[in-house]
Amino acid sequence: MLIKVPQKNTPAPSEIASETEYQNRRSFIRSMGFVGASALLGGTACAQENPPETRSLGPLLKSQYSTNQTENSYTDITQYNNFYEFGTSKEDPYENSGQFQPMPWSVRIEGAADITGDFSYEDIIQSHALEERIYRMRCVEAWSMVIPWVGIPLGDILKRFKPTSNAKYVSFETVYRPSEMPGQRRPILDWPYREGLTIEEAMHPLTILAVGIFDKSLPNQNGAPLRLVVPWKYGFKSIKSINKIGFTETPPATTWNDAGPNEYGFYANVNPEVDHPRWSQARERRIGGSLFDAKQPTLMFNGYADEVASLYSGLDLQRNF
Ligand code: MTE
Repeated sequence: MLIKVPQKNTPAPSEIASETEYQNRRSFIRSMGFVGASALLGGTACAQENPPETRSLGPLLKSQYSTNQTENSYTDITQYNNFYEFGTSKEDPYENSGQFQPMPWSVRIEGAADITGDFSYEDIIQSHALEERIYRMRCVEAWSMVIPWVGIPLGDILKRFKPTSNAKYVSFETVYRPSEMPGQRRPILDWPYREGLTIEEAMHPLTILAVGIFDKSLPNQNGAPLRLVVPWKYGFKSIKSINKIGFTETPPATTWNDAGPNEYGFYANVNPEVDHPRWSQARERRIGGSLFDAKQPTLMFNGYADEVASLYSGLDLQRNF
């Protein structure tokens, strides 16, 4: 386990947490070593009979970035999911994620930053206000939803770790727990699921680390307890159940790009003009409507072009898809 050794002129990890929380975290991290090992050996030290309930997240700031489109229902958002760690059908994550134990949780921060180490969920989110942000989400499979996320701008969190000038990209990894995630017992993907953004994308104010939907903590099937939401990119970039974040100098490997480089690029910006090799990306079906509803046109950058197009000026988006 990485335990940060404080360096001169860099803030101590206790600046990220209060002293008591920091000490608790250190003993928690030590205990994680045991729990992690026992989970790998198939132990069920953490397993509970009943899946954890979602909890209320209290007063939320209303975000200026929200769309005014009608939200999908809680049922749509929690029962039609992509989360291959729990199976490949849309209903699998809802049906198969009951054994997953998102708490306690820690995230390892590594790479080109002054502050690295293991930080608890509480450390990561403490001192940040929670915002409700209603975002359009567009999946690469040409369907979409409008989701009221609860989250924190990712950049505000990342800045606390003081990335260095070598930090050109940010990598993300999902937890690897085959004992709780049945999909990981099969080689569907090269586990653990990995994603990456440029540092500019990660720091962009639209990018959030989500902790909830509506006013509740994230259900397991939506990526409990922490997930990325990048609304101008296809849904697969919004990696779930993150337990590792790294600052890198070169583009990190990403799961879908490794699995099918001709189909899934590193950028994965929503772009109606660049088709997936096997289907058009020009239109999308809004989940929750009738099967007879007309598909709606897909918008450049999922409708967030005013905010993000400048990130890609000069880049050939046909080649860098
Ligand atoms: N993250 C992990 N770890 N595993 C996954 O299979 N699927 C991605 C993304 N994040 C996925 C993931 C895809 S393809 C989509 S469309 C979104 O999660 C779906 O998020 P939602 O189910 O909350 O709508």
